[in-house]
Amino acid sequence: MSADIIDGKAHAATIRDKVGAQVARLTAQHAITPGLAVVLVGEDPASQVYVRAKGRHTVEAGMASFEHRLAADTSEADLLALIERLNADPQVHGILVQLPLPGHLNADLVINAIDPAKDVDGFHISNVGLLCTGQKCLVPCTPLGCLMLLRDHLGSLGGLDAVVLGRSNIVGKPMAQLLLRENCTVTIAHSRTRDLADVVRRADIVVAAVGRPAMVPGDWIKPGATVIDVGINRIERDGRTVLVGDVDFASARAVAGAITPVPGGVGPMTIACLLANTLTACCRAHGLPEPEGLTA
Ligand code: GUN
Repeated sequence: MSADIIDGKAHAATIRDKVGAQVARLTAQHAITPGLAVVLVGEDPASQVYVRAKGRHTVEAGMASFEHRLAADTSEADLLALIERLNADPQVHGILVQLPLPGHLNADLVINAIDPAKDVDGFHISNVGLLCTGQKCLVPCTPLGCLMLLRDHLGSLGGLDAVVLGRSNIVGKPMAQLLLRENCTVTIAHSRTRDLADVVRRADIVVAAVGRPAMVPGDWIKPGATVIDVGINRIERDGRTVLVGDVDFASARAVAGAITPVPGGVGPMTIACLLANTLTACCRAHGLPEPEGLTA
């Protein structure tokens, strides 16, 4: 058996098109342009690439992009003052502070200074609490993208055994909450989990988000399972730098029912869901109906 390949790139393009169409309608009918402010502190090369891509896709969707690039030694007070200004700015419907922040800045403090209604990353403790209690919130973009791919591929997820590998606040924990909301039986596995292979072998759905290249071999995968690989790891192979996921794609593909590739799987979904969240935040801010099919 060879697994279906879940094409995140195509799915993300569909979401971006939907967002773009709804933005055009908002602008034409209500003279509203959704706006996303992205704050980058310092010069981390990977963060610079992500922030540039976020800005480009925001503009392509017809939204306003506000980029704030601050020096690596920016004080916490100055960063908090900028967030206050963005919170108060009616042109800004979404605020994203790119992580990681330089070590002298307290990321929790900074994230929790963002107005929860503009927290398009879904990282503010209010949004985390709302997600855990099943209430309306903004959902972190990467898990939201994974959920959209799973729903698209499987339809109903109710009753399925799901294993989430990794317990980060950005992916693992919110992913587990979303799967629970879909009535999956959810296990969160991590570096201290005993008999990890056996835990993974029970799963109908595996979401791997640990940041370790190819750590999940094919013989851990239950035949026919759906595998969502969140990992984006740079490794040297045959003298070249290549991107690989947390799952060993070649061996897993031979066993799984469906699998996301790296690159071209979950990665493109993250930015598409950021645009979707910005549109959702804008509609809520203006008391307009929420976009259909773009929320959790
Ligand atoms: N750094 C890596 N992933 C993310 C993300 O989803 N949001 C933010 N703000 N920073 C990140």
